[in-house]
Amino acid sequence: MRIKTGLLLAAAVLLCFGCAGKRETERETAALADAGLEKNENLITVGVSQVGAESDWRNANTRSICSAFTPENGFDLIYEDAQQKQENQIKAVRNFILQEVDYIILSPIVETGWEAVLQEAKDAGIPVILVDRMAEVDEDLYTCWIGSDFEKEGQEAGRWLADDLESRGRKEEEIKIVTLQGTLGSSAQIGRTEGFASVMREHKNWTMLEMCEGDFTQAKGEEVMEGLLERHADIDVVICENDNMAFGAVDAIHAAGRTCGPDGDITILSFDAVQAAFDALLAGEINATFECNPLHGPRLREIIQTLADGKPVDKIQYMEETYFDTTMDLEEIRKTRVY
Ligand code: AHR
Repeated sequence: MRIKTGLLLAAAVLLCFGCAGKRETERETAALADAGLEKNENLITVGVSQVGAESDWRNANTRSICSAFTPENGFDLIYEDAQQKQENQIKAVRNFILQEVDYIILSPIVETGWEAVLQEAKDAGIPVILVDRMAEVDEDLYTCWIGSDFEKEGQEAGRWLADDLESRGRKEEEIKIVTLQGTLGSSAQIGRTEGFASVMREHKNWTMLEMCEGDFTQAKGEEVMEGLLERHADIDVVICENDNMAFGAVDAIHAAGRTCGPDGDITILSFDAVQAAFDALLAGEINATFECNPLHGPRLREIIQTLADGKPVDKIQYMEETYFDTTMDLEEIRKTRVY
């Protein structure tokens, strides 16, 4: 992994201002060499713009991608962490274009606002692979997308809740729900919110009291849950659009003197199924977690190798996913899980 932002900027400046519009390969190579960034022609250069490090899921995703694109595997990886800011991602993609990387991998923090920079990548002839989250652009602006069916995950959570309420004899009861939403406008937020809402529409006795943004972080999840508990005394269910927000919600619920999980008075449903969520399930703090598979690295590598061989790839590729709850043999299941 190479993270040399200062040098990259120096190289970018040299490239922008040193070539009077038309870029010449020799001068570019010299500029990059001066900045210590000469291209290894034997390796495929891949620029990765990651969202940030907001959650356990994200860190597992970063590890998976970084370990797939190593020099031993034939790749030169340039990794940029956008710290949850779209402007940083746009800057990173522009730097990748200046460096003439062979491929760009982009996990767009939100779905909108990508047309201009993806058009620039297309004009430069650099294939862009979208990963995890989607961008709302013309489909000829990216080569393919791989990620999760977030809407299906939200539906699964809704169906799980319906079954659980029925098994507890609460099918006809008035059920009060709140949601901790992920980053507004991100595919994971949009899909999970809509998926759960589609099941809610089938249950007239379910009421969504409030939905608040928790930005996919534990700290924000806790803060938002504190406010929700102050405003609503009668919460039955909390939908947390990722595990980290669920961990924050559990802390807030306990601090308020309330209980949660299968034996508590508030049901907690979550998404991701990271290792710490297994701990929370085993501790009886949350009821179920709906898997979001972060292991994109090997599939991304396969896609780039296929493209490098001049072969086509499927435009849309979904990850395989399931869910976990406290009725399962979680100790046994977690042994085989790598995140
Ligand atoms: O886009 C995937 C989501 O982003 C994961 O659910 C969440 O943990 C992450 O931050």
